Amino acid sequence: MDAQEAKKLSFNIVTLDPDPNCPASLITENIVSSFSDLEKLKTFNDKVDIVSYELEHIDIDTVKQVIPEDKIYPSLQVLEVIQDKFKQKSFFQKKGIPVPFFKEIKNINEIKEHLPVVQKAKVGGYDGKGVVVLKKEEDLKNAINAPSYIEELVDIEKELAVIVVRNAYGDIRVYPVVDMVFEKDGNLLDYLIVPADIEENIKIQVQEIAISAVEALDGIGVFGVELFLDKKGRVLLNEIAPRPHNSGHYTIEACETSQFEQHIRVLTNLPLGSSKQVIPALTLNILGDKNAYGKPVYQGLSEVMKLDGVYIHIYGKKTVKPLRKMGHITIIDFDRNKLLEKANYIKKTLKVVS
Ligand SMILES: Nc1ncnc2c1ncn2[C@@H]1O[C@H](COP(=O)(O)OP(=O)(O)O)[C@@H](O)[C@H]1O
Ligand SMILES: [Mg+2]
Repeated sequence: MDAQEAKKLSFNIVTLDPDPNCPASLITENIVSSFSDLEKLKTFNDKVDIVSYELEHIDIDTVKQVIPEDKIYPSLQVLEVIQDKFKQKSFFQKKGIPVPFFKEIKNINEIKEHLPVVQKAKVGGYDGKGVVVLKKEEDLKNAINAPSYIEELVDIEKELAVIVVRNAYGDIRVYPVVDMVFEKDGNLLDYLIVPADIEENIKIQVQEIAISAVEALDGIGVFGVELFLDKKGRVLLNEIAPRPHNSGHYTIEACETSQFEQHIRVLTNLPLGSSKQVIPALTLNILGDKNAYGKPVYQGLSEVMKLDGVYIHIYGKKTVKPLRKMGHITIIDFDRNKLLEKANYIKKTLKVVS
């Protein structure tokens, strides 16, 4: 999606990805390489003026050997803080940003006296992997056996997210607050809806916390900021992604400038665009069906395409697996009930099978 926006402004994108069929390769020059192959990284570096990344789990020392640090945005210092969730929480706490209570643990026995907690691996987690909820002593058998820390189990009213863009001159754009609605029985995202149905003063708090966090990092780039609103009305920072974020996909259709275009603007030192939302939006992930494994077939796609205000993004992954993210759909409508109605229809109608 970055590359799609870059093309509109006639920039060329070179990607580096281990998968020759990675989604970006449809429109970029893709160098097929592991993230640790120094030769290939050098070839990549020689081809580009500026470098960004779309995943946090990159080995910083490897990158430093090949790519000049002043070519990389967000900076490697920012990445280093964010990569380690414990470091990230400690950093934001020191900067006075509200975060849930948290504590480093050296061994699993220490957890007992703090139950209930959420235990998180310091590094390597994503999409809920590396996060476990431990309520009772019996749950300790599920504890993560890797460097980790614990957080208070927040009594969540809503999970919220907001995109913050900041450029090298310190100019900032903040997007509206997104309500991330999770399925009741798991931590799978159900849908995202914007604007979130919360009080104005909460929205302001969310945006202020998100901006402070990005400023504290001296972050240059696009940041997806995840927060909790708890049942007592506290707004707490959960985590930051140093890149365009799935909670900002709606900006493509619903805002004056998308998060991806902003990313390209930051990287090329062009002025930031307006982050104004012009119409309410809802985003659904397109996931592989429970039993799907193999070449994807998009069942019901024609039905969904007949709907007004429905924008389908298929990432072009060659293989579908159960719950693999194959694309997303953004629905726009001035009527919030219609957004939900269409979302329900799409969920029933569209299946990615094999
Ligand atoms: N302290 C917490 N209290 C309650 N739920 C939490 C807490 N931390 C995380 N969660 C739940 O776990 C999910 C994943 O945690 P997160 O730290 O965002 O990891 P990931 O990197 O996998 O997104 C969150 O979206 C939230 O639903
Ligand atoms: Mg998260």
